[in-house]
Amino acid sequence: MLQVAHLTKTYRSGTRTLTVLQDVSFSVAEGEICAVVGPSGSGKTTLLGLCAGLDLPTAGKVWLDGQDLTVLDEDARAALRNRLVGFVFQTFQLLPTLTALENVMVPAELRGDRTARRRAIELLERVGLGDRLHHYPRQLSGGEQQRVALARAFINRPRILFADEPTGNLDAETGAVVEDLLFELNATAGTTLVIVTHNLELARRTGRILHLRAGRIVADEPVHATTSATRHG
Ligand SMILES: Nc1ncnc2c1ncn2[C@@H]1O[C@H](COP(=O)(O)OP(=O)(O)O)[C@@H](O)[C@H]1O
Ligand SMILES: [Mg+2]
Repeated sequence: MLQVAHLTKTYRSGTRTLTVLQDVSFSVAEGEICAVVGPSGSGKTTLLGLCAGLDLPTAGKVWLDGQDLTVLDEDARAALRNRLVGFVFQTFQLLPTLTALENVMVPAELRGDRTARRRAIELLERVGLGDRLHHYPRQLSGGEQQRVALARAFINRPRILFADEPTGNLDAETGAVVEDLLFELNATAGTTLVIVTHNLELARRTGRILHLRAGRIVADEPVHATTSATRHG
């Protein structure tokens, strides 16, 4: 589903260049659920952005569903993202002038999906926000906003979902609810899932952990089924 080969990303600031990712290679199979962990500044968000085609690498290749992202222009990458990719961000990233329902509908409406409204309501009900459809983001708690963001991420039935510290801005209890919903929606949809997290407990609920240190993958370990099963129930 996702293949990354010899990915390098450098940023230039004045006369200095900063290498944020260096020669990163891995692939993620269809339906696989994996975590990327690493200290702050190790390049996790940059890596996710490159995998999703939000940004282009300095060197290396990214294939999403067999399509080489690095040969596409920005419009083509945006079209591919809309068709294949869902996102959940640490800071929710809801549009402040739209209601919860409208936020969830937007990606589906962009594709001309006439069932957008009905399916958005269904998804919001599934994340427990059936009574918050017409609330604006500022009228919702952080956990509620992230639940809206989850509904939005799934509305286009993405083949792959990228979640960047999805519980990073939430307290432990609220984070646990969002985490459970993420895994639940994902299990129903069978989506390939890549979660960036600081939280090792969350990482251990996936099937595989990629460890990033200073822009390099230093370990790629399977998670033992019995460990991940403890919280799947
Ligand atoms: N647009 C940018 N310009 C310059 N440096 C950047 C940019 N984005 C990220 N960086 C730098 O790249 C490094 C990795 O950042 P990031 O991918 O956000 O790490 P993480 O998500 O693991 O905390 C950091 O040192 C950060 O300052
Ligand atoms: Mg980050």
